[in-house]
Amino acid sequence: MLKKIEDLREEISKINVTSLADVEELRIKYLGKKGIISALFEDFRNVPQQEKKEIGLVLNYLKTEAQEKINDLKSQFEAKTSRSQQIDLTMQGISFSVGSRHPVSIIKNQICEIFSTLGYTLSENREIEDDWHVFSALNFPPEHPARDMQDTFFISKNPDILLRTHTSSVQIRVMESQPPPIRAIFPGRVYRNEAISARAHCIFHQIEGLYIDKNVSFADLKQTLLVFAKEMFGQQTEIRLRPSFFPFTEPSAEMDISCSLCGGKGCAICKQTGWVEILGCGMVDPNVLENCYIDKNIYSGFAFGMGIERIAMLKYRINDIRLLFENDIRFLEQFQSV
Ligand code: DAH
Repeated sequence: MLKKIEDLREEISKINVTSLADVEELRIKYLGKKGIISALFEDFRNVPQQEKKEIGLVLNYLKTEAQEKINDLKSQFEAKTSRSQQIDLTMQGISFSVGSRHPVSIIKNQICEIFSTLGYTLSENREIEDDWHVFSALNFPPEHPARDMQDTFFISKNPDILLRTHTSSVQIRVMESQPPPIRAIFPGRVYRNEAISARAHCIFHQIEGLYIDKNVSFADLKQTLLVFAKEMFGQQTEIRLRPSFFPFTEPSAEMDISCSLCGGKGCAICKQTGWVEILGCGMVDPNVLENCYIDKNIYSGFAFGMGIERIAMLKYRINDIRLLFENDIRFLEQFQSV
């Protein structure tokens, strides 16, 4: 009987079928009431007592194996048929939505594009900086409030390693690494220790511009910025430069554009003045040139820096800067770009 059981196990393990009906046939053949295995259980009654334990074990094993094999075959066919029944070739395809560029990227690309037509190259540099590149080389006095932990995120003190508070640090990196003439813009992320509100964020983006050559004058700065403002906000745009102060430029100015919303008549956006401030600029301070080993008697230059979020908010009439950082799809969906 043992031999018979072994042969059956072998036979069952080799079985292959081509349809669900074959599986049912097999089940009846082996496991049905009058099937081969049931018959063996009948014979088992006549097995001598001393062999019962051993044969009983193998016989039960055979039954389980046969059952498993049949279940396996059955599930294979069932899976096949249900999958093929599910496919409906006439069904419409699933469409998925195409992403769009973030408004900050759209504006950044537009600004870069305008300056590239004016012959500016583009450089990026580190966001984690040292005191020299963010403050000292830019002529910040030792007691300047920006050097305070209140205003700047420090990674370490002594040596001072910090998150850059402006992209002006890239001016120093570039002037240290290449001789004039330099005509370049530097876009990038900056960090300030500020409470987040509708008007301010602790992370934002700037674009810095730098032009160093022989005989660069304030008139060149003014004309460059006028061309930029017209390209960015429309040909009717006017600019005005107000005297200001930055440690790294002398003289320094802040630039306003005529309000694109009311055309200069006065509205809520321009606080009834007809003008909105968009950037800081000036002639590079000779001390800064000296710090970068550029001869101040031969070269002069101008620099400017603007917040990308600010320009995006003006262009798209966004009244809360936080919208630009929350990534709410309902907000982002409204911006389309190529
Ligand atoms: N770094 C200044 C800021 O973050 C902006 C700025 C002002 C940049 C004048 C300049 C400049 O290059 O000349 O507020």
